[in-house]
Amino acid sequence: MRTPFIAGNWKMNTELTEAASLVREMLVELDKVADVEKVLCPPFISLTAVKKLIKGTSIELGAQNMYFEEKGAYTGEISPIMLVDLCNFVILGHSERRQYFAETDEVINKKIKKALQFGIKPILCVGETLEDNEAGRTEQVITSQVKAALAGVNSTDLLVVAYEPIWAIGTGRAATGKQANDTIGLIRNSVRSLWNNQIAQAVRVLYGGSVTGENIAEFIIETEIDGALVGGASLKAKDFLSIVSQTAAIKSSR
Ligand code: 13P
Repeated sequence: MRTPFIAGNWKMNTELTEAASLVREMLVELDKVADVEKVLCPPFISLTAVKKLIKGTSIELGAQNMYFEEKGAYTGEISPIMLVDLCNFVILGHSERRQYFAETDEVINKKIKKALQFGIKPILCVGETLEDNEAGRTEQVITSQVKAALAGVNSTDLLVVAYEPIWAIGTGRAATGKQANDTIGLIRNSVRSLWNNQIAQAVRVLYGGSVTGENIAEFIIETEIDGALVGGASLKAKDFLSIVSQTAAIKSSR
């Protein structure tokens, strides 16, 4: 039985005071939702403040990126050493990092290995473009991204994967539950071929891309989908709470 998982990726939104008020707005209710792992991923500069606010609750913290070197002359980068005492998750390989910051599969693979070495749990993002989707290349793209990102990785118990089709991110055009479920099945196949069936069944795989309180149920009812990586809707306390509580209700009824 995989524990359902909902993470909020705040992206480059909220300055310090906004981040703190957003957390305060949902803290008590979010803490009460049992049987779902709940992770907030604010911008780096708010990690410390959010960590203080969620102390003693069931809410966890994640970063949105991390460099693969531990320290040195890498202006502007954040290392695993800086994150390890602060948060237990890190989003890696997000399509916005791949697209706007030229992150390659090779770089993502190095980051995944480094995060795991430090015991920081990676949320590995994969997803195809609209062009690839329409040309029927989804399976090929997803399989190759998963295999490249996880090449040579030997500890899998900390790993979370998020399927985020690029055409669904921030567009209001979410995948259907069935589409997401099928592709997540392909991700499990890739994990199975890298390791074994036991690991493929144990790894949590999320859907991300225009998830809201209105459509979350469509994804959560699917058997392969363990939760969601939420962008825009995670910036609204009410919407995020609704996503988390619906997830708890649906998964616990199965
Ligand atoms: P939206 O939920 O805003 O589409 O963003 C999804 C995403 O990229 C989460 O990482």
